[in-house]
Amino acid sequence: MALIARYFFKNIKLLTQFMDTQSAIITGAGTGIGFEIAKQLAQRGINIILNDMDAEKAKSACQLINAAGGQCVALVGNASDYSFIQQLVESALHHFGTLDLAIANAGITTFGRFIDYTPIAFDSLVALNLKGTFF
Ligand SMILES: NC(=O)c1ccc[n+]([C@@H]2O[C@H](COP(=O)([O-])OP(=O)(O)OC[C@H]3O[C@@H](n4cnc5c(N)ncnc54)[C@H](O)[C@@H]3O)[C@@H](O)[C@H]2O)c1
Repeated sequence: MALIARYFFKNIKLLTQFMDTQSAIITGAGTGIGFEIAKQLAQRGINIILNDMDAEKAKSACQLINAAGGQCVALVGNASDYSFIQQLVESALHHFGTLDLAIANAGITTFGRFIDYTPIAFDSLVALNLKGTFF
């Protein structure tokens, strides 16, 4: 996890310098890679809208970032839901007046046999991995 986050930041460093990034949305950031990204961005002075569908994870992740001196707002919801994605954007504008970066980190990786795959599982994968990233 930390390795992936470190690799990500080697590459994003240049990007954030040039973009003068002030605020960012990160989906699925209550734990794991998304949380590491949120922490790293907050340490660089970037205001964070931290999303997770798990309320406890979102709340405690944001508390940790704010306790370390960052500016983080938690927004609980499903990152594959179009109207919720709009709420994320509106929340960034409301709290920070700008939105410069969106990281569609929440995603589904599935394993198993092709023959066992259900249409419902496929729909939720497309909704989060494609729609959630596109919109
Ligand atoms: N960990 C890896 O080695 C690895 C490798 C390749 C890709 N990925 C991808 O990177 C992303 C993050 O991986 P991770 O290991 O940190 O995952 P994780 O399971 O540790 O954390 C994912 C977080 O996203 C939240 N989440 C799940 N669905 C959501 C939704 N619809 N809306 C909002 N929040 C949601 C979960 O509650 C959880 O807190 C995932 O898309 C994963 O598929 C991970």
